[in-house]
Amino acid sequence: MGPAPNHEVERHAMNGKRVLLIVSGGIAAYKALELIRLLRRQGCGVTCVLTDNGGQFVTRLSLQALSESKVYSDLFSLTDESEMGHIQLSRAADLVVVAPATANILAKMASGLADDLASTVLLATDKPVLVAPAMNVRMWLHPATQANMATLAQRGVLVVPPNEGAMACNEFGPGRLAEPPEILAAIEQILAPAPGPLAGRHALVTSGPTHEPIDPVRYLANRSSGRQGHAIAAALADLGARVTLVCGPVTIADPPGVTVRHIESAREMLDACQSALPADIAVFAAAVADWRVDQAATGKIKKQPGVAPPGLTLVPNPDILATIAAAGPNRPRLVIGFAAETDDLMANAQSKLRRKNADWIVANDVSPETGIMGGMENAVNIVSADGIETWPRLAKDDVARRLARRIAEALA
Ligand code: C5P
Repeated sequence: MGPAPNHEVERHAMNGKRVLLIVSGGIAAYKALELIRLLRRQGCGVTCVLTDNGGQFVTRLSLQALSESKVYSDLFSLTDESEMGHIQLSRAADLVVVAPATANILAKMASGLADDLASTVLLATDKPVLVAPAMNVRMWLHPATQANMATLAQRGVLVVPPNEGAMACNEFGPGRLAEPPEILAAIEQILAPAPGPLAGRHALVTSGPTHEPIDPVRYLANRSSGRQGHAIAAALADLGARVTLVCGPVTIADPPGVTVRHIESAREMLDACQSALPADIAVFAAAVADWRVDQAATGKIKKQPGVAPPGLTLVPNPDILATIAAAGPNRPRLVIGFAAETDDLMANAQSKLRRKNADWIVANDVSPETGIMGGMENAVNIVSADGIETWPRLAKDDVARRLARRIAEALA
């Protein structure tokens, strides 16, 4: 057979990607052979590590023949300079996959044990790790295994969960290794995600509060957590947008896959936003302080017995949304502001839409009894020139996903 025609190769999204496949011991290890075949058909390079127990179920020869690559098993044979060291082995791949992953190897991963080549590679790798567990149903449901899975998930290990069904041990329930096409789909999603509807778009998002200095140690601030803005940045990135998130001081983590610019004051936020332009989309979810202290003191203001507290003279901050939304060559095509109000929500949102030249205003009631400010949920209304759309109360992540989809539709 001659070489594959070019169009065949182009279709393979995973062409040139490399997977390090760890095969641990379990009756499902035979499915690893089919997984290798599917990965090779996608143009993906596969190198296998076989554990001692895995070797009881499949042979090195089968793995080697299907992967067309040397199979590694022994930690100490790799110490030879002529061999690939375990560190190099763990990093030469784009993704490390453990399939099947036994209760034992998952427990070793969760506790950081490194007593053979597979566990050492898993501890040494700096690449994403995907596990496909397979074991008896009782072992899978055991609190120890579930606690290990929770630990691994928290550390960012990705999982193709086991299926439910009849097991080789004559029991029934969750624990069957996911089918090779299911594991392949999970690998593809990591190594070659389908381009989303916002691919090629740049989105600018602001999030969190701003801190306005009074002196070097004191500042004016508000209760914004940054949860809604961060979730919007993540949701836009999930749909394929390149996202710049300009955020004030928050305690939550930076969203993955997003360029984050950390700032403190409103003026720094405006500078960071302007230097992030041009953008196709701008979402202003930050709770920017309306005022700052006119002249922040350069040294700590001292309290002095018998002297009245200092008066603070406040001056308005620049309105970032209104500045970026003003007509001009750099105006993003879709500009979205937020209106967090405790009174006259809709009237305020509609006037903000016009006054700030925004395309949409996401309006929410932040009266203390709603628990929205700083909380996990939000109930929003989308106000635009077309009218008002009221969404149900949702988790902030779901509001973000819905908003990102709506943005993608608007720009389609
Ligand atoms: O005027 P108000 O603060 O209620 O407007 C809220 C909207 O304006 C939000 O989208 C907020 O991020 C944005 N804003 C801004 N710069 C300011 C004040 C508000 O971008 N200085």
